[in-house]
Amino acid sequence: MNNEPFWYKTAVFYELYIRAYQDSTGDGHGDFRGAIQHLDHIQSLGVDCIWIMPHYASPLKDDGYDIADYYQVHPDYGTLEDFKAFLDAAHARGLKVVTDLVTNHTSDQHPWFQAARQDKNSPYRDYYVWSDTGTEYSDARIIFLDTEASNWTYDDVAGQYFWHRFYSSQPDLNYDNPQVHEEMFNVIRHWLDMGLDGFRVDAIPYLYEREGTNCENLPETHAFLQKMRRMVDTEYPGRVLIAEANQWPEDLLPYFGTEENPEFQICFHFPIMPRLYQAVKSGDKTPIEEIWARTPDIPKNAQWMTFLRNHDELTLEMVTPEVRQWMWDNYAPDPRMKLNLGIRRRLAPLLDDNKAKWFLLHTLFLSLPGTPIVYYGDEIGMGDNIWLPDRHGCRTPMQWNSEKNGGFSNAAETYFPIHTDPVYGYQTRNVAVQEKDSTSYLNLMRFLLKARQSVPAFGDGVFEFVGTGSRSVMAYTRSIPNQTVLCLFNLSDQPQNAHLNLPDTFTDLLAANPAMQYQLAPDGQALKIAPFAAHWFL
Ligand code: NOJ
Repeated sequence: MNNEPFWYKTAVFYELYIRAYQDSTGDGHGDFRGAIQHLDHIQSLGVDCIWIMPHYASPLKDDGYDIADYYQVHPDYGTLEDFKAFLDAAHARGLKVVTDLVTNHTSDQHPWFQAARQDKNSPYRDYYVWSDTGTEYSDARIIFLDTEASNWTYDDVAGQYFWHRFYSSQPDLNYDNPQVHEEMFNVIRHWLDMGLDGFRVDAIPYLYEREGTNCENLPETHAFLQKMRRMVDTEYPGRVLIAEANQWPEDLLPYFGTEENPEFQICFHFPIMPRLYQAVKSGDKTPIEEIWARTPDIPKNAQWMTFLRNHDELTLEMVTPEVRQWMWDNYAPDPRMKLNLGIRRRLAPLLDDNKAKWFLLHTLFLSLPGTPIVYYGDEIGMGDNIWLPDRHGCRTPMQWNSEKNGGFSNAAETYFPIHTDPVYGYQTRNVAVQEKDSTSYLNLMRFLLKARQSVPAFGDGVFEFVGTGSRSVMAYTRSIPNQTVLCLFNLSDQPQNAHLNLPDTFTDLLAANPAMQYQLAPDGQALKIAPFAAHWFL
């Protein structure tokens, strides 16, 4: 295992949904014992760390982001011993593991909320945010727009309204109460004591509420996050905290904190993600260049986290209304594909299952600054099921082979149906089939991750755009003192001429890729670059 103190700056992550991975008990739900069987697969991709989506006891109104007991594993997933066995097995393979930590809210089934609603004088009443009128903080936006009409919901038992930024089954905790801080710290200690490597901390912009603000990114929130980081650094030095804050780059910067008062080592860079899709669809690099121009420098030991897809809808919160509409027009032609301010589709279908576009998008994603995270199933180009409710269509069972239920489970029925359609069905789209095909998504992913991992400049290198004289041709360098990689991409489906200087000698790290052999042809003074071609010149 990489035990360098700043290992996360050069790492690649994998997002794992335990329910979807492998059912070891025959109940139709994946579990920790099942996931252990596939650690070899995860390791074979060339990743360093696994992020596990919420694994806690929960009524699953938001698929586990509604926690009813922070100290227990969801019975569908196994026991605390099973969790520990997974952690140990991952560590034995040199893989680190972080889990989700949901600090902003609990489930309404949590004993704290149950006690709070039943008794105004209970010490737990003040764990949540109450109102007699439900009119306060009206400048706070509603996040789950398709389902929630207000951030306040009246509770008959309590005789008051309670505050919630997500579903009304997820009451927000009251961070003005220092007791809540202590509760959360004890939760953190419980899991870090077991040897966990850190947390992806959910929904952190919303911890405090203040009248006259939009109740996001408040100074009080940052003060708490600094306190949390101090506790972790003091008691568990070296563990990593990742911020999930769907915000503009300038609002993300404070979540890294300062040298004296750090907050998170890693922050998801939300705004870059939709712009990568925009660029490969429009054949124009401008959106990527614009968002990097707006991205501030970050502290020395900090890192961005980049992603193409995750378990949520492809969020379009961090684009203008015009671009959002353009993205919907281009990527969500069926109204069922839209959800809230986003698109509930998986990666391969978004790209029309076009491998050249998939390859191009990944070569961008894996060479731009940041620690990339790959969403389970995307390594084989899994499909989505837009007919399932909420975001579940992107959370269907992993497709291992062409046997019953794709090898995921031997139950008569699985938690959600596995894909059976002609293109994305498990019968043909599965790990076993792709193992044998050198040009499969799976083997391309391995090829790309291996290439990226072999070049330290991709981890932590300085990033600089290089002019090409063409909007469709993007070029940039990543460099560390003894290494420079020049990355060159044709974002369009037509051959393009570009004007730039290539070094005298170089190796194209992508030239050996088994699926796409793009030749770079000198064309007079310009270089002719094939449609959707990507080159990483070392
Ligand atoms: C962000 C998570 O990614 C999402 O799945 C969840 O619904 C919300 N936070 C609320 O916890």
